[in-house]
Amino acid sequence: MTTLEFKNVTKRYHVRGSGDMLALDDVSFTLTSGQTIALVGQSGSGKSTIAKILTQLERATSGEVLLDGKPIPRMGRGLRAYRQQVRMVFQDPFASLNPYHTIRHHIERPLRLDHVVPKDQINDEVFRLLERVNLDTNVVDRRPHELSGGQRQRVAIARALASRPSLLIADEPVSMLDVSIRLGVLNLLADLQREENLGVLYITHDLATARHFSDEIMVLNHGVVVERGPADDVILNPQHPYTLALRNASPNPDLHFAGSEPAGPETAGPETAGPEDNKTTSPETTTNQKGGN
Ligand SMILES: Nc1ncnc2c1ncn2[C@@H]1O[C@H](COP(=O)(O)OP(=O)(O)OP(=O)(O)O)[C@@H](O)[C@H]1O
Ligand SMILES: [Mg+2]
Repeated sequence: MTTLEFKNVTKRYHVRGSGDMLALDDVSFTLTSGQTIALVGQSGSGKSTIAKILTQLERATSGEVLLDGKPIPRMGRGLRAYRQQVRMVFQDPFASLNPYHTIRHHIERPLRLDHVVPKDQINDEVFRLLERVNLDTNVVDRRPHELSGGQRQRVAIARALASRPSLLIADEPVSMLDVSIRLGVLNLLADLQREENLGVLYITHDLATARHFSDEIMVLNHGVVVERGPADDVILNPQHPYTLALRNASPNPDLHFAGSEPAGPETAGPETAGPEDNKTTSPETTTNQKGGN
């Protein structure tokens, strides 16, 4: 079992002309393989900053990130090994794939760099991964612009899986996709999570899919975790006024995930906007009654 600890992390950005801004204020949580945590909060609350620190695209100002108890190496082979374990799926599958390279190139690269399979099995492994994300293998020699948005995101997921990670950080993985195909991609992520026993940090604005696809929900407001707990408890019985405000701002107040109905994929959950009023900030975290950590 793999455990990723985000421990007392604070992040300050220096903004030219206006000094420092506090993006994360003493945030702690633990993600283990087999577990899905949804991270919700309105725009600017610090969700992507958490993802960037987890993937070492940014450094924490203070606090630490530990994988199985060990700090992330700053560079070299150790950092590469960490990135093999903890992979990222970005919001925009077009920006995250290089337009000049074929799909084969994108998936082969981590296979080669991480020596996942012997060289003579790389071709078979590329095909296996494409099938794993339900893509027709004839996309292999195409370039990203020759695929649909949903297909591109499936390629990005196949690339993330190629190095056989234990944990996946998915930062709004479907918000740039057409509503009609979001459910298919989310269901794929949920299937992979179960079958590969992945730990997933699912970052989203959409409370309905957060509830449906996650064991736990963590609510972030202005860089502070204000509430966390089992997904149903946080949504059905929010303890913090900010969570309630987020819920009330949802276009789907019951937060029943439409995708759980037997209807077609076009019923994927709606995007939920954050509340306009963000004055409900409170520094203390509410842990939902029935649990949370
Ligand atoms: N490189 C940076 N320099 C300065 N400020 C930054 C930088 N990156 C992020 N911020 C600020 O940090 C805060 C948190 O940003 P972040 O991208 O983590 O929010 P988010 O919750 O992911 O928002 P969204 O839902 O819109 O993606 C914002 O106020 C943002 O302006
Ligand atoms: Mg973001």
